[in-house]
Amino acid sequence: MATSTATAPGKAILFGEHAVVYGRAAIAVPVTEVKATATITDAHAGSGCTIAAPDVGAHVQLSTPQEDPLALAVRLAIEEAGIGEEPDWQITVRSDVPIAGGMGSGAAVSAALVKAVFSHRRLPSHRQPDAGTVNRIVYAVEKLHHANPSGIDNTVVVYRQPVRFVRGEPPQRFEIARPFHLVIADTGIASSTAAVVSDVRRAWEKDTKRYEAVFDGIGEIAETARRAIESGNIDALGPLMKENHRLLRMLDVSSGELERLIAVAEEGGASGAKLSGAGRGGNLIAAVERKNVEAVKEALLAGGAAGIVVTQIGA
Ligand code: MEV
Repeated sequence: MATSTATAPGKAILFGEHAVVYGRAAIAVPVTEVKATATITDAHAGSGCTIAAPDVGAHVQLSTPQEDPLALAVRLAIEEAGIGEEPDWQITVRSDVPIAGGMGSGAAVSAALVKAVFSHRRLPSHRQPDAGTVNRIVYAVEKLHHANPSGIDNTVVVYRQPVRFVRGEPPQRFEIARPFHLVIADTGIASSTAAVVSDVRRAWEKDTKRYEAVFDGIGEIAETARRAIESGNIDALGPLMKENHRLLRMLDVSSGELERLIAVAEEGGASGAKLSGAGRGGNLIAAVERKNVEAVKEALLAGGAAGIVVTQIGA
């Protein structure tokens, strides 16, 4: 029985979440220490296509009439690959990207599924859909998860590269002149991106001028940070994270647990930390000098972090 497997990494937004929904620049990186993996195996004739996601207890039939993100990802990929009728496939998707944690779990699962479909179709490499096509499909699925996604999550996860992202523009890769370390800590509190993004939208509608000014400030920080990373000035990242987080707090997207763990990270030796993703829960990221990584990790675990990922950004 033929089997195909594809993976997609998690992501961390370094700077610019929320403001990116309103047209400001943001920068984000893939986090390859966590990933989603989709496997397709041929099933017996007439069994149709089933998709199982055992980590979340989901089991759906491709033809489900419900708006299901797993089925939608596979359906759109099958259409794109020119497969006329429902194939007899057993698809399993597993993921260790924290769910509802700001690390792009939904986008990673969709990207792994779409890539697995294309790989199982066994088209010659020059006829395999390009990353732009995968990205367009994953973005369509992201719209099921939350109504107004900027597109940054799917872009980073699909291209697997550090990305400067402005809504509606082609993503730009940026260079990492000097590697740096991030400690990513999970508050253990699930947070719905859809709910937080729509709360920010309501607040922006009520107080547009103030919110636009905060978004401008966040966008400038993202651009300053990108220049710092490109020129190897990684000492600038901690203070920029602190400033970005201060502005995120003004958008009311932090939480008691994020504030507490950010303080733990900074007291433990991080040069700066901020929430990453939609906020209210999920993950924080901390810029940490290599010599302080273990101490910060230990401090966060002792402080109650539900999980830690340490990643080096850049070779
Ligand atoms: C979510 O990972 C990032 C947000 O900026 C939403 C988006 O960009 O779609 C909060």
